[in-house]
Amino acid sequence: MLKIGNLKLRSNLILAPMSGVSDLPFRLINRKFGCELAFMEMINARCLGYKSRKTEKLLSTHTKDKPLGVQLLGSKEEFILKALDIINKYAFDVLDFNAACPERKVTRRGEGASLLKEPKKLSTLLKIIVKNSSFPVTVKIRSGWDKNSVNAKEVALYAQDAGIKGLFIHGRTKIQGYSAKVDYDLIGEVKKVLEIPVIASGDILSAGLAGKMFAETGCDGVIIARGALGNPWIFKKIEHFLKKNKVLPGPSKEEVIATMLEHLDLCVDFHGPRRGVIIFRKFFIWYTKGFRRIRPLREKVCRARTPEDMRALIAEIKNHHCGFGIRCFLRV
Ligand SMILES: Cc1cc2nc3c(=O)[nH]c(=O)nc-3n(C[C@H](O)[C@H](O)[C@H](O)COP(=O)(O)O)c2cc1C
Repeated sequence: MLKIGNLKLRSNLILAPMSGVSDLPFRLINRKFGCELAFMEMINARCLGYKSRKTEKLLSTHTKDKPLGVQLLGSKEEFILKALDIINKYAFDVLDFNAACPERKVTRRGEGASLLKEPKKLSTLLKIIVKNSSFPVTVKIRSGWDKNSVNAKEVALYAQDAGIKGLFIHGRTKIQGYSAKVDYDLIGEVKKVLEIPVIASGDILSAGLAGKMFAETGCDGVIIARGALGNPWIFKKIEHFLKKNKVLPGPSKEEVIATMLEHLDLCVDFHGPRRGVIIFRKFFIWYTKGFRRIRPLREKVCRARTPEDMRALIAEIKNHHCGFGIRCFLRV
């Protein structure tokens, strides 16, 4: 259904790279509910080149964690080459280069979305990556730097000439960050001029919005980012909606609780009990989006220290009068 170089995928719904989120437990939980290709969060080439232990931990994977994409951030050839030496030793399925990150700490170093201002430099870096990568290479871009410099089509054509096998495009400028309307027309124009697959990103928050992205842009696939936070069911829902044009109901309260417990256990196994619980706190908040009168419980979650504390708080969800009507409505 979707082919990125030699990687053949049955599903064109892809789990986004999200820094601070897309760790191994998050990927495994999403895979359980229909996600096929998942990305790990972006890896800074400079940190990997220095063999930072934290960065190497980000690269951890598991036999069940396949197919898997890695994403590299950088702008200096020497660091990128050193990082590729390390990355090539792993069994990844695709390597994406980040030209989309809008964070100031990233762009001020000439990395991420800042490369949109220098399409030729981006193309040179992509040629180097294509030549030295063991995996098919893709690039993730935004529509442009700001509304006066929307240049995604030009950037995409340079990238295609550099030999990449797929293009991810977030239909917002760097200045727009994560707000503002997604530019569906621009994504459609990029799709028309490229021969390689175009995978769209931006507001894939529900099955309906995924359908809108496919219909309005003709894209070959979509990336699911914020829509998957505390909501791994989104993969099945989108798939069902695209096939049957019908919306599946939301998960039952019991299923939400069981999934949260499983996700917590994965976090504790992977990060250790202390860090695992701290990391899970934000997932608790996301899983309980749309639940009524959940605030007091969420406040307790911010103070939970041990896996036992967290399990007890997850169990308390049972006793809450939760707005499942609202939850289903929010998650359509
Ligand atoms: C918490 C968070 C972290 C993100 N980290 C990355 C990242 O590491 N690499 C990347 O290319 N995009 C990153 N993104 C952007 C997403 O991949 C996606 O393109 C963007 O959120 C738009 O999709 P959405 O509107 O459906 O959330 C991140 C987004 C969020 C919300």
